[in-house]
Amino acid sequence: MAHVEKIISGIRAIPDGDFTCQNVYQFLAETPVDVDSISRFFFFSPEFYTRNLIYKDERFEMMAICWEIGQVSRVHDHSDQKCWMTVPVGRLKGQNFAVEEMDESNGYCRLRETDSYELSNCQAAAVELEEPIHQILNLAEYGERAVSLHIYSKPYESCVSYCRDTNTFKEVTLAYTSVDGILCDGITL
Ligand code: SIN
Repeated sequence: MAHVEKIISGIRAIPDGDFTCQNVYQFLAETPVDVDSISRFFFFSPEFYTRNLIYKDERFEMMAICWEIGQVSRVHDHSDQKCWMTVPVGRLKGQNFAVEEMDESNGYCRLRETDSYELSNCQAAAVELEEPIHQILNLAEYGERAVSLHIYSKPYESCVSYCRDTNTFKEVTLAYTSVDGILCDGITL
């Protein structure tokens, strides 16, 4: 098990030309994180899943996302950025979606569920750049909290969120719950 600082320095050491989906995925898959080294970034909220920044530079950011039982992300994309995740605590489901029909002029978008996967025990996954729309779910039936470690390259502050009830989509701003282990201004859990 690797201390998170070792994982960060390992990712920083990957030269730009080798900073590919496959190489970062392989590094993460081979370097499971020591949970004790990230526990100071864990914040749970009964209201929403929390986004806790561990590290950020111009090329990538790393976040611990904490999920109470039953919490799910929006159906969203990743703003055309490369993304990887591992699940060191608990279990999570990833559900991917394909666009069936879209009309950008009026914000209409109908999605279809495609493949899904389950992650636990520090297994790693990369968000498919060809099919980037997905949702992460800590299903109630899993019966436990989960924490996932996410790496986004480059860091991004907004993404597109899709509503399956209304078949609409819109740009949403993303925010951190905590930065370097300290709750952000105005956040109460
Ligand atoms: C998020 O970044 O807020 C959601 C988690 C993900 O899909 O990577």
